[in-house]
Amino acid sequence: MCVIHVACWALTFLIRNCYTVYLYIYKSYKFNCMVFNLSEQNSIANQFLAELRDKQIQQDSMRFRKNLERLGEIMAYEVSKVLPYTTKAIETPLGMARLNVLKSEPVLLTILRAGLPYFQGFLNFFDQATCGFIGAYRQEGEHELAIRLNYLTSPSLEGKEVILIDPMLATGKSITDSVKHLLKRGVPRHLHIVALVAAPEGIKHLAEELALPYSLWTCSIDEKLDDQYYIVPGLGDAGDLCFGEKI
Ligand code: URA
Repeated sequence: MCVIHVACWALTFLIRNCYTVYLYIYKSYKFNCMVFNLSEQNSIANQFLAELRDKQIQQDSMRFRKNLERLGEIMAYEVSKVLPYTTKAIETPLGMARLNVLKSEPVLLTILRAGLPYFQGFLNFFDQATCGFIGAYRQEGEHELAIRLNYLTSPSLEGKEVILIDPMLATGKSITDSVKHLLKRGVPRHLHIVALVAAPEGIKHLAEELALPYSLWTCSIDEKLDDQYYIVPGLGDAGDLCFGEKI
């Protein structure tokens, strides 16, 4: 009996993961999507992420917001490496220098409210970016989580490099619902989805639901979601840690 149980479990695990691997391969081929995980490399970014996760240190909300902003700056630098560039001649006091500079600034979008400090990190680097904001909140049912959008303002996205910033990629529903509405503002040249921490469930949901080319940028891929749809080990409620508990 026990052997049958283990065999069934192993088979289910294999089928589930085969499907995820298949999705990655199929979507990468069809839609050119890519996943970048910053914590695969050693860098000072891991120190900032460790402080964000630490339940003692994260009680200092100013430090929490500052670390989110610093990681936003680091991720902005990483994303900047794949944006389109053009060569520009610059006149210095002593001559001419030729440099590759951004062809155009990306559009920055963020989901309120936890996204704000992370978004600020991007805005610190993309000085002239036009920006959009999305208001979304969770409505937890007994067996599922619904995401309600109640505010959306955005510049045109047509033909633009669009960076959608949401620190916690949990179920992925706030991203897919937002993208559905955002596409009414034009089809981006490329969509960059930037999370701080991503759950495998959210990554899978994006792969299943998004039918346009996108890249996912994250500082860490965590283990799973808990039964309240929070990321484990994650860091807790990012919005509350930035701005205080809501009622
Ligand atoms: N939102 C958060 O703030 N934390 C999570 O773990 C998931 C969603």
